Amino acid sequence: MNVIPPAFFAAFFAMTAISLHAVEIVAHRGFSERAPENTVAAFKLAWEHGADACELDLHLTADGEIAAIHDKDTKRTTGVLKVVKDSTLAELRALDAGSWKDARHAGERIPSLAECLATMPEGRGRFFLEIKCGPEVVPVLARQLEAWKPRAAQLCIIAFDREVARESKKALPWLKVFRLSSEVTKDKRPVDLAALIADTKADGLDGLDLGLKWNWNEEMARQIRAAGLELYVWTVNKPEDARRLAALGVDGITTDDPVMLREALK
Ligand code: G3P
Ligand code: CA
Repeated sequence: MNVIPPAFFAAFFAMTAISLHAVEIVAHRGFSERAPENTVAAFKLAWEHGADACELDLHLTADGEIAAIHDKDTKRTTGVLKVVKDSTLAELRALDAGSWKDARHAGERIPSLAECLATMPEGRGRFFLEIKCGPEVVPVLARQLEAWKPRAAQLCIIAFDREVARESKKALPWLKVFRLSSEVTKDKRPVDLAALIADTKADGLDGLDLGLKWNWNEEMARQIRAAGLELYVWTVNKPEDARRLAALGVDGITTDDPVMLREALK
């Protein structure tokens, strides 16, 4: 009888361990490399190409709706200047949010949050909802997400603003909330990682989602892990960066190109 060598079991369990810690691939503003960012087309394309998650940007509109758009106004992505907080969702939806990317995307609309969420496959995927405006959106978001409680694992909230992140966690304790941070403050001073970790813990948040320009290293990852926080990184568009960050044990990587990322991490 053939005896299976112990080395086989060791290799099998090692492989299992790696797959259990697979890096979550998050499509930044949808599959924004190939489709206009923050549109239904970009989210559908990301799901079709096997993205584990999609990230999107949210603003409150003048009529109390939530629109998916990155900037405070529509100029860059529609060619027409409308300030989101001063416009109704209908006014925003009248604009063409696809042509700027490519003529074949003409007619893509600025979607509502609900339209974006509706693209997510049942039982697979997750949306990283980035709140770009102030905490005034939080009660509206809490109302709109109420029906998503049974699918809580398929949503999380991310925000740069400390108050927005803290208020989100208070209003939606059933959702994970991650604090976003660049490596420098608005006035270009380096962010103190220890203070950021302490604030994130004090606010009861679940993790950090940090920019690629941080001085990523093992000690940094260790400190964040030791605090019991999850760790994500944005926006990674080079295979060598993806491999370096995956080797540090990040939970997920946000990218404009989820196909490139999947290939890089094979
Ligand atoms: O996922 C976080 C990342 O999207 C933050 O930067 O400017 O692309 O919203 P930004
Ligand atoms: Ca974003």
